[in-house]
Amino acid sequence: MSTLASDAATGSDAASTRPGARRPYETRRTFAIISHPDAGKTTLTEKLLLSGGAIEMAGAVRSKGNGRRAKSDWMEIEKNRGISVTSSVMTFEKDGINFNLLDTPGHSDFSEDTYRTLTAVDSAIMVIDAAKGIEAQTKKLFEICRLRDIPIVTFVNKIDREGRDPFEILDEIEAELALSVAPMVWPVGQGGLFKGCYDLAKNDFLFAGNDRTQHYAGGLDDPALQAALGESAYAGFRDAAELAAEGYADFDPAAYRQGHLTPVVFGSALQNFAVDRLMDFIAEHAPEPRPQPSDRGPVAPSEDKVSGFVFKVQANMDPKHRDRVAFVRFCSGHFKRGMKLDHVRSGKALAVSNPIYFVAQERSLTEEAYAGDVIGIPNHGTLQVGDTLTEGESFRFTGLPAFAPEVLRRVRLEDSMKLKQLRRGLEDLAQEGLVQVFRPTIGSDWIVGVVGPLQLDVLASRIAGEYKADVSFEPVQYNVARWIRADSEQALKEFIRENTMNVVRDRDGWPVYLCKDDWDLRYIMNRHKDIAFDATREIVQQGDAGK
Ligand code: G4P
Repeated sequence: MSTLASDAATGSDAASTRPGARRPYETRRTFAIISHPDAGKTTLTEKLLLSGGAIEMAGAVRSKGNGRRAKSDWMEIEKNRGISVTSSVMTFEKDGINFNLLDTPGHSDFSEDTYRTLTAVDSAIMVIDAAKGIEAQTKKLFEICRLRDIPIVTFVNKIDREGRDPFEILDEIEAELALSVAPMVWPVGQGGLFKGCYDLAKNDFLFAGNDRTQHYAGGLDDPALQAALGESAYAGFRDAAELAAEGYADFDPAAYRQGHLTPVVFGSALQNFAVDRLMDFIAEHAPEPRPQPSDRGPVAPSEDKVSGFVFKVQANMDPKHRDRVAFVRFCSGHFKRGMKLDHVRSGKALAVSNPIYFVAQERSLTEEAYAGDVIGIPNHGTLQVGDTLTEGESFRFTGLPAFAPEVLRRVRLEDSMKLKQLRRGLEDLAQEGLVQVFRPTIGSDWIVGVVGPLQLDVLASRIAGEYKADVSFEPVQYNVARWIRADSEQALKEFIRENTMNVVRDRDGWPVYLCKDDWDLRYIMNRHKDIAFDATREIVQQGDAGK
């Protein structure tokens, strides 16, 4: 991409044929940050963007975010509750490496969206608050990464504040996540006694004062380091650093890439401490784009033909552009603006004339992209989550799931004249993945399903703000939803006929069985062994299948 990446420096197609030159996709690092709310994800994102030159001033992510938030109510909810419910992509380039940072919502209510975003990354940074250790949401997100073997580097944040003993944190990561740890950057003191960090691999010390980097060729034994730290701080630090180096696994790049070992960097996002080390680590060791699973086998990034999949759709991203943006992760080939790609689900060609990429909260046109890159394609509903785009091929990428909702509500419209607006809003927001929308076989009320109740607040607020319809939600007698299917089409039809009151259709027309609780579910499952009741369904978007 002309603006996205200095491909002249990192290898255009011509450059990549030179012996030893990297191919453009090899310079891509597509990653996400996973953390519990408040651990410091926003602050770290900002420092990474600063360091990559994507923003110029500390506070820009936040202040831009606030500016945008002020314009829409649902962002207001986000602000009031201090959580981040949107996800977007941020692209920046440093020293010939193109970083694509995909933002994931931090709140557990949005796990489905997060899951899908994690299908589009090749590695992740796990941010842990040094005072809190592993928290609930960190663990959940970690489990998702493990399912997909996503390599993780850990950043233990806020070491400039009083926190827990670093050894305790390392042991907790090992015990709770069943993961080997390899300390890479070690803190010297904490809180008021914080002196800086020691890079155990490079043997250099980063001072907390103005003079940030001081190299000590003599490593831990260097008398200058001893003098700089003072006797007692040095003694404590030396013992700890030795123990850290000896008591834990050495960094093994292969084990990291397979997801068995996490290197650990202690630092401070707020003070911009060791953030550069984290970024160096990602550049040097984080995997370049990995082969992606598809129904014709893994698709390698080195393949010549362009391919990619939609992992997220967002409506009304910017009130100035009332459009829908589909986020596409490229998996192979060299995409150029204006290219006609095959939209596999519909079998139609799609001319991509306005592909956009994102820097912080800004968007601009991009000319080209390679495997690992993420672009936004504005469209009017053609592109859906799970869609595959190719250059004349007809396979589909696999592995994007939808989860059965845990909270079901009937939508009540305050003003029946606003039915059209409501329908449009529900369709758009379901397509984004914010909620799932079901239509009963009998009756006309929509039922919405969410993973957590916070999504309902966001839904009501967005429908009011963006579609000008006021809605409220009523409880329904169901708490459990399962997609149903059967080997025999006849058996499925019969089951649906017998249980009309309990069967609804999801947005794509797939039948869903609703019941009161797990007991009811077990009961019906026992009575109908020929029907499969699925808590997840793969988003394959294959037209009429299963309907
Ligand atoms: P999140 O996106 O993961 O939810 O966390 P965020 O970056 O918003 O950080 C949560 C709070 O932790 C913020 O304080 C932030 O300034 C603070 N913080 C982040 N990194 C560090 C660090 O390295 N050291 C210290 N001491 N604090 C850190 P806040 O008071 O909630 O917000 P603000 O008023 O500072 O914006």
